[in-house]
Amino acid sequence: MKILMVCLGNICRSPLAHGILAHQAAEAGLNWEIDSAGTGDWHIGQAPDKRSIAVAQKYGVDISEQRAQWFEHHLFAAYDHILVMDKNNYRDVIAQAKTEDDRQKVQLFLTEGEVPDPYFDSNLFDPVYQLIEQRCKELIKKLS
Ligand code: 4NP
Repeated sequence: MKILMVCLGNICRSPLAHGILAHQAAEAGLNWEIDSAGTGDWHIGQAPDKRSIAVAQKYGVDISEQRAQWFEHHLFAAYDHILVMDKNNYRDVIAQAKTEDDRQKVQLFLTEGEVPDPYFDSNLFDPVYQLIEQRCKELIKKLS
């Protein structure tokens, strides 16, 4: 199973989703390939936001080695599922799809609603972590 997590900057939400799902998959003995990308290009090559690194560390997940990449069309072919954090990400990723196969890979990460962007509100990192962790548990059950 190959899953790509996508948000805007690829430094707050999608690195958490990437790190948490990879951690849970490894614990479950699943040989899944997880990565993340951002629809914006501002942070390419950068490590995750310090606040995302810190909250993940608090719960025993190390995301400090991740580096941001830009979402580009070639990534459609490399993944089975492309899970986006909010509706703007959905619009931006779908805009790059060229085939029905590309489009069918793209879904919102949550079954209901969006993952709030914590970039401008440091208090959101902990609840965002919890939200993502819970959904990752469901994804492990659903896709394994
Ligand atoms: P993310 O959060 O999409 O969860 O990585 C953001 C990070 C950076 C910016 C916006 C959102 N930014 O505007 O630089």
